[in-house]
Amino acid sequence: MRLIELRLKNLNSLKGEWHIDFSDPAFLNEGIFAITGQTGAGKTTILDAICLALYSQTPRLGDITGSTNEIMTQGTGECSAEVIIEIDAKRYQCYWYQHRAHKKAKGNLLPIRHEISEVKTGKILEEKKSKTSAYIQ
Ligand SMILES: Nc1ncnc2c1ncn2[C@@H]1O[C@H](COP(=O)(O)OP(=O)(O)OP(=O)(O)O)[C@@H](O)[C@H]1O
Ligand SMILES: [Mg+2]
Repeated sequence: MRLIELRLKNLNSLKGEWHIDFSDPAFLNEGIFAITGQTGAGKTTILDAICLALYSQTPRLGDITGSTNEIMTQGTGECSAEVIIEIDAKRYQCYWYQHRAHKKAKGNLLPIRHEISEVKTGKILEEKKSKTSAYIQ
């Protein structure tokens, strides 16, 4: 599996929308790169986002069940993580999303969406939250 792109929104200290394109020549032309920044800057959160999109869990928080969400940036009403991955020259989008009622910071948490689809056709391969993680694995 190759990681092609990562998008995330409102995870921990990474408030707002973030995008990393691993197909950028800056990544492709170098064999290795470092994630750097101050304590609490959000380095590990980048790895959390990849885990969320693929498995609906993070090493730090375990499974995000829907009734609690400690990773959504405080004061925001929605969060998401999305990766584009490539396996055998085929690309897939893995998408994880949770929001609060009316996308308000004080709204009740609403059910998590977790799905995988084919990039080329947009066809959804699995969208049942309890099955998507196993499907992706
Ligand atoms: N729900 C939340 N809303 C806003 N900020 C949060 C939330 N949960 C955690 N944080 C903050 O997000 C940051 C965590 O970021 P992260 O662990 O990714 O940092 P890091 O760059 O890996 O730091 P370190 O160098 O310590 O490993 C901390 O500053 C933490 O206080
Ligand atoms: Mg860290």
